[in-house]
Amino acid sequence: MRTPLVAGNWKMHGHLSANADLLTALVSCADLQTKALEVLVCPPSIYLAQAHSLLAASAIQLGAQNFHPQNQGAFTGEIAAPMLQEFGVSYALVGHSERRSLFAEDDTFLLAKCQAALSARITPILCVGESLEEYEKGQGLEVVRAQVTSVVRALNPEEVQSLVIAYEPVWAIGTGLTATPEYAQQVHAEIRDQVAHWSEPSIAQQLRILYGGSVKPENAAALFAMPDVDGALVGGASLDAASFIAICQAA
Ligand code: G3P
Repeated sequence: MRTPLVAGNWKMHGHLSANADLLTALVSCADLQTKALEVLVCPPSIYLAQAHSLLAASAIQLGAQNFHPQNQGAFTGEIAAPMLQEFGVSYALVGHSERRSLFAEDDTFLLAKCQAALSARITPILCVGESLEEYEKGQGLEVVRAQVTSVVRALNPEEVQSLVIAYEPVWAIGTGLTATPEYAQQVHAEIRDQVAHWSEPSIAQQLRILYGGSVKPENAAALFAMPDVDGALVGGASLDAASFIAICQAA
């Protein structure tokens, strides 16, 4: 049985006062703190200390949006995985399409990030997904297969067991064009098959695969009803307490 995980990716949004209002509302909701569900918020790095403090007495977990694969050194402006640990971070996004496209993070760099997170006992959420052009050419499965393979084949079974994968079709991110539950299921099943092939079937069965891309209260239940959809990686809707709570309640 895979425990559903709903993660909120705040991206580059936040203010100390608005963060406090949002996190206080989430912490006040008992539905987000049951053993049947894991809830995670990923604020901008500068707000991790504030979020760590406000989430301290709750079961809601804290995630990072980004970090550098080296543990220290001359990398001005960067943050290392062990530093995240000091602020109670237990998950970290790796390979979000915006990091891949805007910051040229390639498969080699992303594998190093996954390994650095795992070494720091932080769970990597490996983000994969095809562009609109690739989708329109019918190349979605091929692209996702390659993105999953490039990382999973290089990790040992224990490392893969500690991984979460998020399928985020780029054409659905921020567009309101959510993938149909059936299409999401098809891709998620392919991801699980690839992990079974490159690692072990038993590990693939335990792997949590999240869907991301215009998840809203109105469409969350239909997505979560799919057998290989184990939760969501939510962008815009995670900035509104009522919307994010409604999505979590649908899981
Ligand atoms: O990482 C989640 C994000 O890419 C999805 O954004 O606004 O489409 O839910 P959104």
